[in-house]
Amino acid sequence: MSHNLLEGKRGIIFGALNDMSIAWKVAEKAVEEGATITLSNTPVAVRMGDTAKLGEKLNAEILPADATNVEDLEMVFTKSMEILGGKIDFVLHSIGMSPNVRKKRTYDDLNYDMLSKTLDISSVSFHKMLQVAKKMDAIEQGGSILALTYIASQRVFYGYNDMADAKALLESITRSFGYIYGREKGVRVNTISQSPTMTTAGSGVKGMEDLMDFSERMAPLGNANANDCADYCIVMFSDLTRKVTMQNLFNDGGFSSMGMSLQAMKQYSNGLDEFKDPSL
Ligand SMILES: NC(=O)c1ccc[n+]([C@@H]2O[C@H](COP(=O)([O-])OP(=O)(O)OC[C@H]3O[C@@H](n4cnc5c(N)ncnc54)[C@H](O)[C@@H]3O)[C@@H](O)[C@H]2O)c1
Repeated sequence: MSHNLLEGKRGIIFGALNDMSIAWKVAEKAVEEGATITLSNTPVAVRMGDTAKLGEKLNAEILPADATNVEDLEMVFTKSMEILGGKIDFVLHSIGMSPNVRKKRTYDDLNYDMLSKTLDISSVSFHKMLQVAKKMDAIEQGGSILALTYIASQRVFYGYNDMADAKALLESITRSFGYIYGREKGVRVNTISQSPTMTTAGSGVKGMEDLMDFSERMAPLGNANANDCADYCIVMFSDLTRKVTMQNLFNDGGFSSMGMSLQAMKQYSNGLDEFKDPSL
């Protein structure tokens, strides 16, 4: 059901690869709520993924771009303003990738060229996006820019690897740039910290299914799925959150405030007798 929360607004959604992608759900809901949008992803993802299908469905132009490349980002903002007919009201950065995770390098055996790539793709690209947008004065006063993050930025989650460092940097960029962008242009910058979600990027995380099961049992409201995340993004893009900026906002069913839940405790004690490995 639409509430017309984004009526007349113009947006850019980065990172919709297939219908499991969080960005895919955000794009669908943004259009449902009255926005016009452009979509962007890497040229390879546009060739190999389903972004074109989404573009057709939503009548949204696709602008292939590598988010680590400043010229590509300038092209995306220039063309988006041309296509959509004015400055941009909202942007979603839904981009993450770790070559170390892909190559199964553990955190105590990182390849440093790969670490640089992880940080460039997953975090510095957000700074580049913000800097390009600000220099071009491409965002409307009161506009809203969001990136997606995960709680492993703040606490250790086994298997999240160098993406934890990438997310910590992403959240820091959000605060540092959010201050400047808010002060000078009235633009809001926030991250949403999402529950583990089964997507192409998510399924690369070691032990993803167990991680999802654990947080499902721990969170009083259970895990938030990609649609829940999209709903939160829409509210953050809307005028209902005009004074929210520089925040890391949890969309995780309460997981981040929990220590131990009854369900997790029961499951743990059930497993205790059969699984006693003193080395862990
Ligand atoms: N899935 C989860 O469990 C989860 C939880 C919390 C946060 N997140 C974050 O949500 C965001 C979206 O991930 P997702 O889970 O929807 O997975 P996804 O695989 O559908 O999306 C990741 C996207 O990043 C794009 N990308 C990779 N390198 C790029 C580059 N150089 N330039 C532009 N785009 C590039 C990919 O093409 C893909 O579309 C990521 O930041 C991810 O870390 C995911």
